[in-house]
Amino acid sequence: LLCLSVNVIILVLLAVAFLIIVQRNLLNLSDFLHTEKPDEGVILPFESELSPDLNSVRTGEEIPVLITAAEDRLGAVVAAMNSVYRNSKANVVFTIVTLNETVTHLKAWLSNTRLNRVKYKIVIFKPELLNGKISKDPHTPEAAKPLTFARFYLPAYIPEAEKAIYLDDDVIVQGDIQELYETNLKPGHAAAFSDDCDSASAKGIVRGAGNQNNYIGFLDFKKEAIKKLGMRATTCSFNPGVFIANLTEWKNQNISQQLEHWMELNTQEDLYAKTLAESVTTPPLLIVFYKRHSSIDPMWHVRHLGAGSRYSSQFVKAAKLLHWNGHYKPWGRGSSFTDVWDKWFIPDPTGKFHPVRRHTGDS
Ligand SMILES: *[C@@H]1O[C@H](CO)[C@@H](O)[C@H](O)[C@H]1NC(C)=O
Ligand SMILES: *[C@@H]1O[C@H](CO)[C@@H](O)[C@H](O)[C@H]1NC(C)=O
Ligand SMILES: *[C@@H]1O[C@H](CO)[C@@H](O)[C@H](O)[C@H]1NC(C)=O
Repeated sequence: LLCLSVNVIILVLLAVAFLIIVQRNLLNLSDFLHTEKPDEGVILPFESELSPDLNSVRTGEEIPVLITAAEDRLGAVVAAMNSVYRNSKANVVFTIVTLNETVTHLKAWLSNTRLNRVKYKIVIFKPELLNGKISKDPHTPEAAKPLTFARFYLPAYIPEAEKAIYLDDDVIVQGDIQELYETNLKPGHAAAFSDDCDSASAKGIVRGAGNQNNYIGFLDFKKEAIKKLGMRATTCSFNPGVFIANLTEWKNQNISQQLEHWMELNTQEDLYAKTLAESVTTPPLLIVFYKRHSSIDPMWHVRHLGAGSRYSSQFVKAAKLLHWNGHYKPWGRGSSFTDVWDKWFIPDPTGKFHPVRRHTGDS
């Protein structure tokens, strides 16, 4: 008898609960039907919960970031931008330099994904700019990748800024970009780079990489034009894949014109080291910024992830910025730490770009 009455009580409670739920839903439904005006574009509550910053447009000091977008690696620029944006609350404004034929694809990717709140402007790069300054042979890396020279013209692309950041597309930012932006530039310095012999990145240098951490790895010191500069061949080089620039100094010192001068001279006198592979933008920068640049915190430019570096996963986790310079890119085959990159990648809504990934079942 006791059992029975307990059961009855439970049943009654359930029935009451059921009625309450039904009634609330009916009320909600009638509320909803009452307020819904389709032509006013009602935003349903669950949608605004999914995007909590729906109405928060970032304000405050702008942090200008220049990045390039090459058609065959658009996935890279998207992942890099996403990592910068998600790890900072700062008012980041990207300037994306690209070729005319890439604009439509790039815009589709930025506006049809969760990147649609990111502030950016797209600037078209004119390859004619490089006429007479790079080799005409289309098989050379420089001719194949004109966008890589966009960094030489930073003040032309961001004329209103006093200070700006340049990022290669094969990076992932894990720290707050504001911190990098606040890197102190010494008076008279137009840029800050990170040296190739600093302790953090030296860990990642792979045996057999040769002299690619000093000037002699990039410039031919037997050439008269280089000798005349009186630079020490063993000076530590720097990696121009990440830098902060004082654009006032850049303009005052005519840095862009100086860089063009060395590019032109190289086409006539072949001044770069023979061993130089991908880093065609490095030699002129090494000359122009010889002993005239500030430094970046080494954790803000952890390099060689694309060169088989053997960093521990704890070290990679602690890094503020990861750079896959080297042959193996995180969207391609054989790269290390692709899982880190995958976290920031956003699939291409047009379906053209696919990271190369081993599918489960393959071996
Ligand atoms: C840029 O591309 C658009 C279409 O993608 C084309 O109509 C236009 O002529 C191109 N402009 C130049 C300068 O090539
Ligand atoms: C940039 O350089 C100019 C000229 O030397 C200097 O007045 C200014 O304070 C510098 N700005 C920054 C942000 O370092
Ligand atoms: C930069 O160029 C301008 C005009 O071409 C020239 O007047 C000025 O002296 C140059 N400055 C430097 C530091 O080379």
